[in-house]
Amino acid sequence: MPSTEDKYNFSHPLDSFLFPVRSVNTHKLAVAVSNKTILITGASYGIGAELALRLSHYPVKLILLARTKEKLEEIRSQCVDKATVLVYSIDLREESAVNELLLELKTKGINIDILISNAGHSIYRKLLDSTKRFHDTKRSSAINFTGPVQLLLGLLPGLIIQKGIVVNVSTVSLFLPHTAGWSAYHSSKAAFDHWLRCAEPEMKSAGASLCQVYLPLVRTRMSMIVDENHKRPAMSCAKAADAILHSIIRRRRKYRPWCIAIPRFLDILAPNLWYRLQLGRLKK
Ligand SMILES: NC(=O)c1ccc[n+]([C@@H]2O[C@H](COP(=O)([O-])OP(=O)(O)OC[C@H]3O[C@@H](n4cnc5c(N)ncnc54)[C@H](OP(=O)(O)O)[C@@H]3O)[C@@H](O)[C@H]2O)c1
Repeated sequence: MPSTEDKYNFSHPLDSFLFPVRSVNTHKLAVAVSNKTILITGASYGIGAELALRLSHYPVKLILLARTKEKLEEIRSQCVDKATVLVYSIDLREESAVNELLLELKTKGINIDILISNAGHSIYRKLLDSTKRFHDTKRSSAINFTGPVQLLLGLLPGLIIQKGIVVNVSTVSLFLPHTAGWSAYHSSKAAFDHWLRCAEPEMKSAGASLCQVYLPLVRTRMSMIVDENHKRPAMSCAKAADAILHSIIRRRRKYRPWCIAIPRFLDILAPNLWYRLQLGRLKK
């Protein structure tokens, strides 16, 4: 299978122990996705692009969204021609752009069976470097929370008719002790997570399923921009895509790697330990 992130094809000895993910059974995946219309946000790079390439091996209609038109076209050209691929270059933070897209899909009579809400942007910035950067919080919220909500609300009536699936690509950080510098990213991911948890019973009773996929560090351009992350255990893009595809096959409500139990357990045993460690480091 092709991988979009070949330049990050290094590994760590603990990768498969900490983040074991079985390869996807292609027959089961074919049953789950054949003849479906699948919209993937953030399909120009990383996990979204990997998903697009993997799903193009099946008879599906793929709708790929991101800002970078050339990258979307490149991914489309790499897709196997079993799939029909439409690309839309839009900024999900722009309310009017999302409305236009929803209108276009409606005009074309396209109902989505599977929405993979994957587009996202992470930002690390210390509090005192953020005092003149309120826009970081607004932008993070727009791409990680309000944009995805707007898109989902617009697609929901169709998803319900199709008895469809909504996949949210989220982060294990939501279950870990809070870490300095990540306020904008983690709060925006947490907001969408909470929104979805409240919406899930209504969605499910109306016929649409929700799969929340909480990923650990994944080797993509988003995380590999930080040099130290190159030396940390992480998932490959292909394994992250496997975890998401398993969730689609089984309509699995939640995926989280087992190892997040370790820091969670430590936090119960010593609730202030992480806070004190951070404080000590910041005071130096
Ligand atoms: N990498 C990790 O360690 C990690 C860990 C846990 C969870 N995740 C989650 O996984 C998802 C995918 O991330 P990734 O690691 O694959 O990162 P990535 O390689 O940077 O891909 C992010 C995707 O989102 C798109 N995007 C960003 N801003 C956008 C906007 N305003 N409008 C439309 N599309 C936008 C990007 O395309 P354009 O730039 O072309 O718009 C790109 O296709 C994110 O939701 C992230 O939070 C990642």
